[in-house]
Amino acid sequence: MHLRGTFVHTPRLGDLEILHDYLLVTDSSGVITHFQAASSPESQLVLHSSDLIIVPNGSFIIPNFVDLHLHAPQFLYQGNGLHLPLMQWLNEYAFKAEERLDGDPALARKVYSRLARRLILNGTGTVLLFGTIKEDTNLILAEVMQAFGIRAFVGKLSMDISSRPSYVEPSAEDSLKAAQSFITKCRDLTSTFPVHERLVEPVVTPRFVPTCSDELLVGLGKLSAAEDVKIQSHLAEAHDQVEYVRNERGVEDIQVFARSGLMTTRTIQAHCTFLDPPSLQQVHSCGTAIAHCPLSNSYFSAEPFRLREALDTGVKIGLGTDIAGGYSLDLMNAMRQAVSVSRMRQGSKIMTGAAAEKSLAIDWKESLYLATKGGANALGLVSGVFGVGSPFDAQQICLFDSHGSGIGALDFFDLESPGVHDHSITVEMLEKWWCIGDSRIEQVYGYR
Ligand code: GUN
Ligand code: FE
Repeated sequence: MHLRGTFVHTPRLGDLEILHDYLLVTDSSGVITHFQAASSPESQLVLHSSDLIIVPNGSFIIPNFVDLHLHAPQFLYQGNGLHLPLMQWLNEYAFKAEERLDGDPALARKVYSRLARRLILNGTGTVLLFGTIKEDTNLILAEVMQAFGIRAFVGKLSMDISSRPSYVEPSAEDSLKAAQSFITKCRDLTSTFPVHERLVEPVVTPRFVPTCSDELLVGLGKLSAAEDVKIQSHLAEAHDQVEYVRNERGVEDIQVFARSGLMTTRTIQAHCTFLDPPSLQQVHSCGTAIAHCPLSNSYFSAEPFRLREALDTGVKIGLGTDIAGGYSLDLMNAMRQAVSVSRMRQGSKIMTGAAAEKSLAIDWKESLYLATKGGANALGLVSGVFGVGSPFDAQQICLFDSHGSGIGALDFFDLESPGVHDHSITVEMLEKWWCIGDSRIEQVYGYR
């Protein structure tokens, strides 16, 4: 594919690049082989290719969003029950919904298909998913994501302790066998495909410390290392959860994960809200990544995540919607919430210029990095940015229609410059789109 137009990405935290009139070329496996100004001599050599696509004036290409934490079965009751504290909410909503899908494969397929469609509509192309306990339901989830062209890391839940007697695995041994079996079958789903078309991967998924015995956690640590698969869980999320682990286990959950071999470079831990700076440093030294879920934190955590301090340690961080602990699956909302929460942390002392580097607040450009390259980094992917060697996982956003009129939030710019039809994308337009634009995605590129 040859694509010419405006590209926007964040190659480093806080750095936004708007690249006007660039030419991007991919090979047959969707990997970028050329990315330069259209006027460069190298671009001129390939510019007249017969498959050249021109991105319309007023539209731009941006990497797909990466959702680093989403519970697929909880999509069923997205937006309900958020009046409860976490441990009660899990019992009264989450476990029930998950159990329902495990007993109804037809419903699971419908819910997962709708979820996939909505993810695409909202520009999410890569997602790290929690599923349910039952193998077959997770295989449906993996199949659906693959069929819809979403890069999905799929976690069959491991839990041998539960407050719901009908929603639990019978023993640590059974749970470990089931986790191993899911890894094999999930890989089998795509084993005959060429490597670049294998979009789904299994993930070892101890739900969280309260639902996993030490024996199970240690076994999962070994399994993940032996099979070289990623690990995901919830860490230091909520008051009631942190208290529960202290009472039941006598230690902090980070210690339980660490001694079980589950704090690795392949691990992504959701939340980490209650981690103090030394513990954040520990997460960084382990090479473990964090899925920051600001909306869900506002409901369940009672305290904000120390985002700036975590970024300063250099730990890998992306954004998660945490459906249905968070009610919105749109990463645009997660970005806005991450900024809002960080500004409340900073308080009235909003800093500008060089002093801003010491601010606890993040800005919209930093949030865009977290939603794209930050999330991709956390998953060990080289996507989230445009460059030679990266898969072209991207979306095309339209800010102005074919008559040059601004649409949605952008109609303001028509008034500013009436009669001007050269709507070359500016940083002010992008800022406005980030704040109040909707997801007008014209096209998703990369994998269909
Ligand atoms: N901790 C353990 N399970 C869950 C879950 O399903 N959602 C959230 N937000 N936290 C959890
Ligand atoms: Fe969660």
